[in-house]
Amino acid sequence: MKVSVIGLGYLGATHAVAMAKSGHQVIGIEPNPEKVAMLQSGRAGFFEPGLDQALAEQIAAGRLTFQIAHDESSRLVDVHFICVGTPQTKGSLAADTSYLHAAISDLAPYLREDALVAGKSTVPVGTAAILTKELGAATGFSEPNLAWNPEFLREGTALEDSLRPDRLVVGVTNKRSEELLRQVFEPMIASGIPFLVTDLATAELVKAAANAFLATKISFINAMAEIAEVSGADASQLAKAIGYDERIGNKFLRNGVGFGGGCLPKDIRALMARAEELGVGESVAYLKEIDKINIRRRDRVIALLESELGSLSEKRILILGAAFKPDSDDIRDSPALEIALLAQKAGAEVIVHDPVSLPGVLIKHPELSVQEDLTKAFESVDAVVLATEWKEYRDLDPQMVSVLTANKLIIDGRNVLDVAKWQQAGFRVLALGRTIQN
Ligand SMILES: NC(=O)c1ccc[n+]([C@@H]2O[C@H](COP(=O)([O-])OP(=O)(O)OC[C@H]3O[C@@H](n4cnc5c(N)ncnc54)[C@H](O)[C@@H]3O)[C@@H](O)[C@H]2O)c1
Repeated sequence: MKVSVIGLGYLGATHAVAMAKSGHQVIGIEPNPEKVAMLQSGRAGFFEPGLDQALAEQIAAGRLTFQIAHDESSRLVDVHFICVGTPQTKGSLAADTSYLHAAISDLAPYLREDALVAGKSTVPVGTAAILTKELGAATGFSEPNLAWNPEFLREGTALEDSLRPDRLVVGVTNKRSEELLRQVFEPMIASGIPFLVTDLATAELVKAAANAFLATKISFINAMAEIAEVSGADASQLAKAIGYDERIGNKFLRNGVGFGGGCLPKDIRALMARAEELGVGESVAYLKEIDKINIRRRDRVIALLESELGSLSEKRILILGAAFKPDSDDIRDSPALEIALLAQKAGAEVIVHDPVSLPGVLIKHPELSVQEDLTKAFESVDAVVLATEWKEYRDLDPQMVSVLTANKLIIDGRNVLDVAKWQQAGFRVLALGRTIQN
């Protein structure tokens, strides 16, 4: 089939490659000319394991091209996937859907009446119905084919998740849209991946609900961590113990510095804002607490540092990690970066290390000092905070860095370190949600 992917960020670039790998002919549309040039050269422009190689292969195979705007070639497309951003609106909890409206009006002059527009962005429930009306007005079609197909990929395993998702959810208003989506996802459906057909509102809400549930699970265990910290209990053992119950499950149940990234924080806020607009704000008012618990974990790290070092003024603090999770360079709403900024605000001299995201850190936060060399980063520091659980940090030999540090103190913000190993190298180890005997 002929497919277009509109908006080539983390979601769109990955989806474009996944569609090409599924055998479709794909046109990627992205208004940022620098991004288009980068993609044409076989680089996604962000770190995602395996993506650049797959991208280069699909370009070489002639299945994937990129351009900055629609042209006559868009008329040949059967399914247009919309993957533009829906960030949090400044000064409000609501999602900014303006990029979607722009994408619809850019596409309308080139849309064939029998083609399908399938939104993949995460949107407030009700958005697809509004976009369908806009599309009808712009094209003159009495029943434009517009569907919603939310995306569940996780950064770090994005390509694999796009090719082999847990499930495919499609919200449709007519049989033609369903048929086109069945065709486009045929290889995945044939391999046994569940294919759920719903109405538009359900498909939109599935994504918001999934992210609200995941955020709740993380903040739940972090709330238990707060109780553990004042009662002498161990939240990591507690998580393990309750996780054996299949109804609870152990995934997304590790206590630490909390969630971040370009999705969970903004998605729970957008759900609260939309529920409020719909007159049922109380239904998800609890998400306000979920958000607050999450933010408090970042403050807890600063409190731990101050309890050990006194004032942070002129103390040298190394933050291990800047990305919101390992195997990604995404620093949007990253707990690690927020901890670095909070420590700096408290007067510390902060050094940030991250295996891949430092270029992005320097652009967004030139006020922070970065160190690319992991060993050198430990030089003369008064404390280390492990804030993103990169494998490099878990595997690091503490003996190698022990002599370099001025004061051997490490806070395990993700509860992943081999405590005995770090203690043998002379470090005092502190962690979130548990008291460690040093
Ligand atoms: N990143 C993820 O892991 C992930 C996972 C699932 C869902 N989502 C959702 O997918 C959407 C996109 O997220 P992202 O992380 O890829 O965002 P992003 O900011 O990385 O990418 C969005 C892209 O859309 C482009 N764009 C903006 N206006 C456009 C227009 N009119 N036409 C074409 N392109 C346009 C931007 O230039 C940018 O490259 C969001 O709704 C997000 O919530 C993201």
